[in-house]
Amino acid sequence: MDRRCLVVWLLVSLTDKVSSQVKVEGVKGGKAVLPCVYTKTIMERDMVTIFWRLNDEKKVYDVAAGNTVLTQQDPEFKARAQTFPEEYSKGNYSLSLRDLRVTDVGTYFCYIPPLNVKQQIQLHVEDGPEARSSSMRASLVPAVLLCLILLL
Ligand SMILES: *[C@@H]1O[C@H](CO)[C@@H](O)[C@H](O)[C@H]1NC(C)=O
Repeated sequence: MDRRCLVVWLLVSLTDKVSSQVKVEGVKGGKAVLPCVYTKTIMERDMVTIFWRLNDEKKVYDVAAGNTVLTQQDPEFKARAQTFPEEYSKGNYSLSLRDLRVTDVGTYFCYIPPLNVKQQIQLHVEDGPEARSSSMRASLVPAVLLCLILLL
């Protein structure tokens, strides 16, 4: 490989990894726990209010005044999402998602309005055993294109 190509490839593969903070990986059909932990202030059980959102718009899961409220839940997440009420006293408001779908991929937000806290979690769902090599190929394509441009 041309040295310039190597440099471009390194840059492309590095930017792939540095991009975001909390990342969760899942496999299609499997399960993932999206972490949301805040221990500076622990809410009384009947105060616990948590809004889980996907891409800041889809309603994934709501807890209001200590109770789960699913009337507004996006049908996509029906019977697939849950929190762990026994963990609330430890400041753990993590969300478990099961039967993962490729459409679940995105940025999740855990809002804790009483504490004015917002946490961001990135979920990635792998399609299956071949997903790894195809995402590798996906980052390789722009690198190869750039190499061709540089060489011309
Ligand atoms: C929060 O609770 C879930 C479910 O019990 C657990 O899997 C996870 O490890 C907990 N997170 C922390 C930081 O304790």
